[in-house]
Amino acid sequence: MKQGHVVVLGSVNVDLVLRCAALPVPGQTVKGSDFQRLTGGKGANQAVAAARMGASVRFVGAVGADESGRLARAALSANGVDVRHLKEVSDVATGAAMILVDQASGQNCIALYEGANAHVDTALVDAAADDIASAALLVCQLETPESATLHAARIAHEAGVPVLLNPAPAMPIDAALLALVDILIPNESEAMVLAEQPADGAFDQDRALDVLLGKGARSVLITLGVDGVLYGDGRTRLRREAYMTQAIDTSGAGDAFIGAFAAALVSGRPLEHAIEFAQRAASISVTRRGAMASLAYARELAGDG
Ligand code: RIB
Repeated sequence: MKQGHVVVLGSVNVDLVLRCAALPVPGQTVKGSDFQRLTGGKGANQAVAAARMGASVRFVGAVGADESGRLARAALSANGVDVRHLKEVSDVATGAAMILVDQASGQNCIALYEGANAHVDTALVDAAADDIASAALLVCQLETPESATLHAARIAHEAGVPVLLNPAPAMPIDAALLALVDILIPNESEAMVLAEQPADGAFDQDRALDVLLGKGARSVLITLGVDGVLYGDGRTRLRREAYMTQAIDTSGAGDAFIGAFAAALVSGRPLEHAIEFAQRAASISVTRRGAMASLAYARELAGDG
């Protein structure tokens, strides 16, 4: 892959995080502890994850004209992310995520408020078109409107810039978008939805990968948590075991993986090294609390080949 900057198009949220002894079931109220209000959003997290790994990152997104938006802009900037295409929208709040973390397992559940993220539109993408067309890689997720993502992917594709899509949160996507994707990185539940596997059945990893390649993605990397990763393209298929660590909070682990993977690719690492690098970054993030707050720095992976 050519070296150069990464453009991340995506969401910005304020994360309202609470740790619980057990996640509540419908109708139940549980007590939580360690309440935190942090900057997050899959787009912002992935931008910061890549920047902390040494990549030059330009962010395209939207926040409200409020304190959460100002804090998010400051957090992105403080991590070295270029925010010239971070739009401020009046009369709408910055996106928000209510995150409950299971104290014992570190697993979480998240409810999202879209807020200003809904205002990431084709006009904003057009304003960033030169940055996208000159990038080494475009990185997108699904917390911002698909029409803008599709537009950005078209600009990138026409300019020969690879498109990395993290299809999170899990939802069906436009076939036209999938056909523009060079590297699709779903987790297991996202892969199940996109590959149309029944949610109540056993997950057939290889079959899901084949289906996603058949739908037009040039390569697919399924992250499988403690089961590692499965990668496939037209010629190669490989599996890698996970790095086992004691997880205390898995929020942002996928973002840590994607940001580090993107940074490794644009720094010229071969695919398998980039995957290993990303796994190590994610394994560090799960040992710390928060999403953006938990993301690893390049110095913590020093010595990686
Ligand atoms: O991937 C973690 C992120 O998902 C959180 O930061 C939250 O904002 C949600 O978007």
